[in-house]
Amino acid sequence: MPALPDSFRLDGRVALVTGASRGIGEAMARALADAGAHVVVTSRKQEAVDAVAASIREDGGQATGRALHVGHADELADAVAEIADAHGGLHVLVNNAATNPVYGPVEETDERAFDQIMGVNLKGPFLLAKAALPHLSKDGGSIVNVSSIGGVTPETGLGVYSVSKAALLSLTQVMAKEWGRHGVRANAVCPGLIQTDFSRALWDDEQTLGRFTRNLPAGRIGVPGDLAGLAVFLASDASAYCTGGVFTVDGGYLVA
Ligand SMILES: NC(=O)c1ccc[n+]([C@@H]2O[C@H](COP(=O)([O-])OP(=O)(O)OC[C@H]3O[C@@H](n4cnc5c(N)ncnc54)[C@H](OP(=O)(O)O)[C@@H]3O)[C@@H](O)[C@H]2O)c1
Repeated sequence: MPALPDSFRLDGRVALVTGASRGIGEAMARALADAGAHVVVTSRKQEAVDAVAASIREDGGQATGRALHVGHADELADAVAEIADAHGGLHVLVNNAATNPVYGPVEETDERAFDQIMGVNLKGPFLLAKAALPHLSKDGGSIVNVSSIGGVTPETGLGVYSVSKAALLSLTQVMAKEWGRHGVRANAVCPGLIQTDFSRALWDDEQTLGRFTRNLPAGRIGVPGDLAGLAVFLASDASAYCTGGVFTVDGGYLVA
């Protein structure tokens, strides 16, 4: 593989990635480590993040696994402080973890599901970013929030999830606007359909998959690695003039 231009390198930087035990978060974590960052790989399950961190280290990267449940609001500030303390700072925060416990019309979504979706997809990223701000502001940090094309235009059957992702886009813009003066950038990534456990129901059978890809400019659904380059770009100085941006990675879904 050709060497990255220096502005894409992340040597000496510490990156915290939520929901990094598999799927998009894992692909982003691996890419950030490839670019030189020490990656703190987090998800709810210690065993799962330890396995990803060990595999990154086997590949020559630097990584540590740490269990972190983004829905446990009262634990997030301490977790960020502990991570920054253990690794000598925090330069990149990737808010990738999300949940969607329901599929169906909005009137069938109960309050418990609403609170769960908002807790993990919106409140968690908000609290993590607030806790990370003092650390990110020391060295010109970057926040990458993983939203969705559902945050740009709501997806049928994914009503409250879409609301949470739209709010995350707005939160990203607020952070970009208010935290530029602290030297912190914030950008949002909006994946289209990416082949992961999370979206299995949308690609698992040929018919559903065919309906989705028929008019898609890219002619295929995405894979987690399709997000890797953008994560490195947004985390690094290569994107020094990008903040408040909304970056779609959707195979052209929104223009199809
Ligand atoms: N796949 C798509 O088509 C698609 C499209 C648009 C947007 N997205 C967004 O992309 C992001 C990643 O999704 P994905 O498709 O990669 O999903 P995935 O393969 O199911 O992975 C989800 C990750 O999040 C972790 N996780 C789940 N709940 C968590 C919580 N409460 N706290 C901390 N970690 C948690 C999971 O690990 P544990 O089980 O170990 O906790 C796992 O590492 C999400 O924000 C999702 O909304 C995905």
